[in-house]
Amino acid sequence: MQFCKFCRGLVLAVFSSDLCFSNLDLAFRSKHIKYVRKRASRHMKMFKCSSVLQDCIGKQWFKRSGDGDLYLSGNATIKRLQLLRCKCQQAERVSGVTTEGGNGTWFVDSAKTLNLNGAVNSPGVLELGDTQQLTSEKEVLTSNGSVNKEEESLTTNGAVGTGRDASRKASVDPIEEEAWELLRDSVVYYCGSPIGTIAANDPTSSSVLNYDQVFIRDFIPSGIAFLLKGEYDIVRNFLLHTLQLQSWEKTMDCHSPGQGLMPASFKVRTFPLDGDDSATEEVLDPDFGEAAIGRVAPVDSGLWWIILLRAYGKCSGDLSVQERIDVQTGIKMILRLCLADGFDMFPTLLVTDGSCMIDRRMGIHGHPLEIQALFYSALLGAREMLTPEDGSADLLRALNNRLVALSFHIREYYWIDLRKLNEIYRYKTEEYSYDAVNKFNIYPDQVSTSLVEWMPNQGGYLIGNLQPAHMDFRFFSLGNMWSIVSGLATRDQSNAILDLIEAKWSDLVADMPLKICHPALEGQEWQIITGSDPKNTPWSYHNGGSWPTLLWQLTVACIKMNRPEIAARAIEIAEKRLSRDKWPEYYDTKKARFIGKQARLFQTWSIAGYLVAKLLLADPSAARMLVTDEDPELVNAFSCMISSNPRRKRGQNNSKKPFII
Ligand code: GLC
Repeated sequence: MQFCKFCRGLVLAVFSSDLCFSNLDLAFRSKHIKYVRKRASRHMKMFKCSSVLQDCIGKQWFKRSGDGDLYLSGNATIKRLQLLRCKCQQAERVSGVTTEGGNGTWFVDSAKTLNLNGAVNSPGVLELGDTQQLTSEKEVLTSNGSVNKEEESLTTNGAVGTGRDASRKASVDPIEEEAWELLRDSVVYYCGSPIGTIAANDPTSSSVLNYDQVFIRDFIPSGIAFLLKGEYDIVRNFLLHTLQLQSWEKTMDCHSPGQGLMPASFKVRTFPLDGDDSATEEVLDPDFGEAAIGRVAPVDSGLWWIILLRAYGKCSGDLSVQERIDVQTGIKMILRLCLADGFDMFPTLLVTDGSCMIDRRMGIHGHPLEIQALFYSALLGAREMLTPEDGSADLLRALNNRLVALSFHIREYYWIDLRKLNEIYRYKTEEYSYDAVNKFNIYPDQVSTSLVEWMPNQGGYLIGNLQPAHMDFRFFSLGNMWSIVSGLATRDQSNAILDLIEAKWSDLVADMPLKICHPALEGQEWQIITGSDPKNTPWSYHNGGSWPTLLWQLTVACIKMNRPEIAARAIEIAEKRLSRDKWPEYYDTKKARFIGKQARLFQTWSIAGYLVAKLLLADPSAARMLVTDEDPELVNAFSCMISSNPRRKRGQNNSKKPFII
């Protein structure tokens, strides 16, 4: 059997849960389908916004322009509100839930509303108006039905735009201008308000799949770009509406995920209103993985949501959103889900394969670095935003303990450089004791010669995953970048990661930043680990493909470490091709020379990732909304753990008490 150059000796487990389920599935099928339908229609009732299309708006009104967009003939500029008349209250007021016939149907009431935990929100708490921008808009309907807005934003305090907004007008960079235009084209509206951006707006693609949905993780760079422009409403709407979706009951084969799970994506669907041919209603329909390819649970969504919530507060100065009772409840629900006790002995989050950006089988089940870095960032953000109250003391204690244990675990056991690799190479195995050096019983044979050759003299990185007897030595970019941004990696480690990127530039950046992971799985290992996934062939897509969206995360990491020149170099490379290639989702081949075989064009997070990278380089201080610095309390707790670590105090009587904050 041939294994990946970096992962020789990988232990594989083959599960056949599908087989076990099939009989049960058959027995339940007929009943279950009805059940699902009933539930679905119930869900559809939950978030709807009725609208009436004007009678005269028909297909004959639309003309296709040369570049594929649909325009309204005769009257190219049309007020959206003339097209779509919402019967419902303002979208942002949809905040309550009550029980109707025991069904838990959501209701719209601007007076008093109950959130899931039964807490009563006062009307004031639910108001959204504070930073609402007054806008004069020019709107054009595009092929996906979204409305482009060119706004001159005037905030209620009278300031026109922001400082950064003003610089927008001075900017003449044509690629940036194009990117802004495309980003605005991707905006999705719900009841007339911007609520997110679709994943891709590719007119050349024959199958849309779910790329016409708003993905939580994909919206993060879009949201940051809008924040950097001083356009806060879309982010605020996104945060509040996805929060409502969090509480939806969703099931897969009669099983519901834990409360607090955020959807992977959602879609605004339009339905004819019962009994009225000319009327429609808009419905937010989330996907928690129950419709996604491979049925993957999006563990990262809630973590990203917390990260964006913090960034929104920091950038806009509007803390009223994070202080809302329903938002505080949402944060706690995500935390409770992540901090719930399980069977695991590790402080890292145990997840299934495909639970993050890599959302299909790629051998990253267990404790993948990406999830751990986002988890750490979300814990820190939540700690900052949670308002102290008696009921949350236990949660905060659990959170603090987890932060310490998690950072210790990752910094100690995920880190490799040449010195550490040499240590692993000489590991003794089968150590049964409390003070084993090789705690996870890693067989030194896993250190392949190609990894030894690849590791630069200077630099190092956090490995992709750690399990009993298994280190996944692949380099995963997002996890490493976000470990720098969140401070999960130490300062020395953070600098060493950037050293490694510089030393391995031709592998990790090559002709398009940035490799999602390195190296690719090949041969039999690819067959076994991916299930011979034709989309994840070597050096394509998730399997060693290059993803321009990762540029923004690289930029934040470089700015944090005061090494922005690294990001600037990468952006320069990306700029040569991104617009010319029509903003692909990903690139293929070892050196990223080809546009990905199945890559969408006009992929929103490729566009937004580029914009965020540019905007942050122009104003590095703005990266503060994403970065977290090391907390002195954590450093103290961490050093206590280091000094009580048996690896360092082998043979000594280790009588130190565990550290509890
Ligand atoms: C792909 C990516 C995923 C992304 C989605 C929408 O499935 O793997 O990370 O969220 O496309 O762009």
